[in-house]
Amino acid sequence: MVLCESVAETGQVAAEIFASRIEQGPCVLGLATGSSPLPVYQYLIRRYRESGLSFAQCTAFTLDEYVGLQPYDSRSYRATIRDEFVGHVDLPTRSLHSPDASDPDPRALRHAAAAYEETIRLAGGIDVQLLGIGANGHIGFNEPSSSLASRTRIKALTQQTREDNARFFGEDETVPKLCLTQGLGTILDSRHAVLVAQGEAKADAVAAAVEGPVSSACPASVLQLHPHATVILDAAAASRL
Ligand code: GLP
Repeated sequence: MVLCESVAETGQVAAEIFASRIEQGPCVLGLATGSSPLPVYQYLIRRYRESGLSFAQCTAFTLDEYVGLQPYDSRSYRATIRDEFVGHVDLPTRSLHSPDASDPDPRALRHAAAAYEETIRLAGGIDVQLLGIGANGHIGFNEPSSSLASRTRIKALTQQTREDNARFFGEDETVPKLCLTQGLGTILDSRHAVLVAQGEAKADAVAAAVEGPVSSACPASVLQLHPHATVILDAAAASRL
């Protein structure tokens, strides 16, 4: 665990973990959406611009996607990751993968979930997986009650998560009810998991994840089983430890 003095420092510490792996040669990155990873992306973009850190040999996988949004829809997580990070560095667009949740037909979604797992496997697995944490302890979109062994699958979003994420949708738009998300088992397979959390709103979830029992009631607690997990917190997020 790393305790940081500022939000910017959480970004810098996580970004340097990514940078040192990227500098070793071709690698597979796991990317997350939400506000928590933004300082990480900002720092990595700076490293690209100012010290020539190249992502040209990287492949990237996003964690999750809303069902029913087209990949070019600005609210899709694929578009979000492009706008916030990948579009600002030299990671080739063809090397960015995300679950294809555009067709809401359940058979199409099950097929897309299995295909996503297979694509990750063929890429050699994820070397460094970035994670945020939801106020209810979710990682990716693995809401409480998710199986600790789960793989990429369809998941229903909780009311709290839909409300938390309503800010990304217009007033007259409804937040999707379903998503495709990598499972907790998928995340456990990453070689290094890096969770960043900032702010008091995350303090309870962080305490449950780090000090509580390993339980599907707090999906992030599964990281206690991960052989190489780093939790990077600012003071507010660490305040209930
Ligand atoms: C979404 C994402 C998660 C993310 C969470 C927290 O639900 N699917 O991957 O960790 O939001 O978001 P934020 O970092 O904005 O608090």
